[in-house]
Amino acid sequence: MAEKMVRVRVPGTSANCGPGFDTLGLACTIYNDLGLRLTREPGLSITMTGEGAANIPCDARNIVWRSVQYLLQKAGCSKDYRGAVIHMENHVPLSRGLGSSATAIVAGLTAANALIGNRYNRYELLEFATDIEGHPDNVAPAIFGGFTVNAVTDGHVDCFHFRPNFRLKLVVAVPDFPLSTRMARKVLPEEVPLKDAIFNVGRASMLVAALTRGNERFLRHAFDDSLHQPYRAKLIPGMYDVFAAARAAGAAGATLSGAGPCLIAYVLERRHVEEAVGKAMQEAFRKHGVKSRILTLDLDTRGAHLLRK
Ligand code: HSE
Repeated sequence: MAEKMVRVRVPGTSANCGPGFDTLGLACTIYNDLGLRLTREPGLSITMTGEGAANIPCDARNIVWRSVQYLLQKAGCSKDYRGAVIHMENHVPLSRGLGSSATAIVAGLTAANALIGNRYNRYELLEFATDIEGHPDNVAPAIFGGFTVNAVTDGHVDCFHFRPNFRLKLVVAVPDFPLSTRMARKVLPEEVPLKDAIFNVGRASMLVAALTRGNERFLRHAFDDSLHQPYRAKLIPGMYDVFAAARAAGAAGATLSGAGPCLIAYVLERRHVEEAVGKAMQEAFRKHGVKSRILTLDLDTRGAHLLRK
């Protein structure tokens, strides 16, 4: 008898949100879908359409498959299922800072978990996903949706997820070049000055407080960062000019999306300036010789979920 197939949808994510390096994240309305069937016999069939289809390995190195295996091993059933049929439909741009690897990890874990009777809850899946990815700030919003605040203690991940108290549009400028997270982490220092740490603690706290309470005026400096963006600026031509252009066009703030190279502007929906913000960001990038496309997204509030056929 053929084993059951499940389908899972996982949102793309934007990590850090400026000052919350490796701790804050949000989910947005762009998705990758996974179809998974486990097989008793060894053998992998991995197919893919959409973003990055030509660049993602379709063999045992595939991150969806590795995440499926991770969960099966945890559950003690890796000997029962030795192979899989995997199909991905990808809309999240690859290696651009919108959490494409997190979608693959979360999709693999969520789908495999469903196929073995949902033995793990979302908080347990978050710990597995954080172990695989190395940091929680993309996988947490991919699992829960909304904004997430994460803190890791000896492998245990505390995650507070919430919807902000006002509606935001997320305007993302996607440059036409990729940047690996590994490369973008390499340029960061091992240690940072205390004043920079204080700068970020204040802003990250202010950002979460302002979002949860709906105090727009405190957003003014709340997206600023001293811990990672200044070091990464050299990897993204015109980064600070694009931030300035987004603000001048009416955005509440703009930051690197994750490790970049996407840049994301946070726009209060009631201001209706998202189109102008997108144009301004694209034009500022263009002045630095960078071609980009603009995605205008909403906050995803659902997170990873199973799709009914
Ligand atoms: N917090 C991570 C970083 C997100 O900025 O390196 C990228 O995956």
